[in-house]
Amino acid sequence: MTLRNLFYKISPNQRYYIRRFIYFPYDFYENITGKKQKYIPPRGMVFTGRGDYLKQANIFFQYFKQYCDLQPDYSILDIGSGVGRMAVPFIGYLNDDVNYEGIDIVKTGVDWCNKHISVTNPQFNFIHSDIYNDLYNTKGIIKGEAYTFPYKENKFDLVFLTSVFTHMLQAEVEQYIKEISRVLKPNGYCLATFFILNKESETLMNKTEDTFKFPYQQGDYSLMSLDTKTANVAYKQEWIESVLKENGLKIEQMRFGFWSGRQKENFPDFQDIIIMKK
Ligand SMILES: C[S@@+](CC[C@H](N)C(=O)[O-])C[C@H]1O[C@@H](n2cnc3c(N)ncnc32)[C@H](O)[C@@H]1O
Repeated sequence: MTLRNLFYKISPNQRYYIRRFIYFPYDFYENITGKKQKYIPPRGMVFTGRGDYLKQANIFFQYFKQYCDLQPDYSILDIGSGVGRMAVPFIGYLNDDVNYEGIDIVKTGVDWCNKHISVTNPQFNFIHSDIYNDLYNTKGIIKGEAYTFPYKENKFDLVFLTSVFTHMLQAEVEQYIKEISRVLKPNGYCLATFFILNKESETLMNKTEDTFKFPYQQGDYSLMSLDTKTANVAYKQEWIESVLKENGLKIEQMRFGFWSGRQKENFPDFQDIIIMKK
């Protein structure tokens, strides 16, 4: 069994305590030496993936500017806000009278964001939705496919989901796209990352070693693991295109990533990125 599979087998709660335990010396050292940076959670609390915590946030912040014409008067919805990583570059950038809203299904992450970000930046607000997910929230009581975002229609200029649709099953993705279209202003932007299955990515994935693999085909999508279905999910390009079209979202750009074995020099992001406009 690989380390990844072992990781999927243990509960979110167990993962939390193991992470806190492993990173305790590092987090303790950062605290006592005063090296801990404001708005960055202790490493043991970061359940949203590895890598340089802020680097990706800064890269995506540039994408929001470059591809979604991000301006300081934009109202923002960060779906799957995790421990607030993507929010950090927005602090001090947004005008005081616009809102940055985050939604997540992991309460420890939402609580951390409200306690450490919202407390001094009241325009930032994070809410917990107790939605079931077999990787992140196995005790959740709400079904994502029936979830309505707690916001009125035409509210946001920019909605984004970084590495979130990659952990959601089909009916839930469909419902979220419907909801995104409802809460976006006309001409508003949505930027979302996916693992997109098309001829090129499927061919590359099957012939390249050391890439993500999605061996369990389920029609419009494929899974990495049958035991933990939302561990990682890849969707067929035609299906994504049709569900976006049905919901009035026009694709402005697709930037493929290197997850399937494309050359990193030409495809600098790991996941695929779709930029759409209402
Ligand atoms: C890989 S993490 C990415 C977190 C954050 N977007 C980032 O880039 O740092 C995936 C996040 O999606 C959240 N998530 C999974 N399913 C969700 C759902 N149905 N609604 C909202 N958030 C969800 C998880 O709790 C987790 O925080």
